[in-house]
Amino acid sequence: MRVKMIAAAVTGLLAVSALSACGGGDDSASGDDGQIVLGFSQVGAESGWRTANTKDIQEQAAAAGIKLQFSDAQGKQENQITAIRSFITQGVDVIAFSPVVTSGWDAVLKEAKDAGIPVILTDRAVDSTDTTLYKTFLGSDFVKEGKEAGDWLVKEEASATGPVNVVELQGTTGSAPAIDRQKGFAEAIAANPNIKIVKSQTGNFTRAEGKTTMEGFLQSVKDIDVLYAHNDDMGLGAIEAIEAAGKKPGTDIKIITVDAVKDGMTALSEGKINYIVECSPLLGTQLMDLVKKVHAGETVETRVLTEETTFTQEQAKEALPNRKY
Ligand code: AHR
Repeated sequence: MRVKMIAAAVTGLLAVSALSACGGGDDSASGDDGQIVLGFSQVGAESGWRTANTKDIQEQAAAAGIKLQFSDAQGKQENQITAIRSFITQGVDVIAFSPVVTSGWDAVLKEAKDAGIPVILTDRAVDSTDTTLYKTFLGSDFVKEGKEAGDWLVKEEASATGPVNVVELQGTTGSAPAIDRQKGFAEAIAANPNIKIVKSQTGNFTRAEGKTTMEGFLQSVKDIDVLYAHNDDMGLGAIEAIEAAGKKPGTDIKIITVDAVKDGMTALSEGKINYIVECSPLLGTQLMDLVKKVHAGETVETRVLTEETTFTQEQAKEALPNRKY
């Protein structure tokens, strides 16, 4: 039994060391002078949004005097589960993570709860029905983001007399933002029966897959009027495909995206994107505040929403010089 426990602990430490190596983490679980130790499992580095989110979390942990054990899951749920188990084995004070997908977390979350380690969800939700498995969920309202994207299109196409063909680039299959942004958009465009999603496929939130999936759309759909991409990066990849096909992004095909990272805002200001719904990656300050509170045993709100806005082409030109990410 004892040998088994030691073996499990060693395996856990080796696993988190390997995973941390991807994200530049520190693999010791004890903080200096009573420092809080936070184990954080990140989705990966799939987009400009994610890079900005990682940077902010690392900077704000340092500013708050919290020792961060950072692990990059490289887009794989199994890596996140391994990292969380390793954090439990090491006895970190608090665990936070941004779940790659919504399902399949109950067992590992129960292990954290049984070990007495509070868990905070950041950015993305899980579908666990037992909400006592985590303390709070900090992040955006993705359904609202999808709805705002759809509302803009309904207004834009208010005078359309014929069909408005929309192709949709979905985020990672099974992830909360892909599910919710699809739902919110579909609900909003139901207000105008001319607007129809004619093709919808994943581009996995990356620029490369946004480009190849858009190439496929351009080959298989005759008249594309609008592209709705669940993030800027896929939209930017799609712009490359549209230009390579001899069409003008923003004019021949209207483009709506979500995030408002610098590259997306630049394309918006240049007229290549028509509208962006913001999703803020700057969750670090609020996360560190929640970490301190749950560590101190204080009660926190079970849902903490981030504040966001939307951008037209004119608004992007104004906002760009002061954009932080
Ligand atoms: O979960 C947030 C989403 O994940 C961002 O909108 C997208 O860019 C990222 O990959």
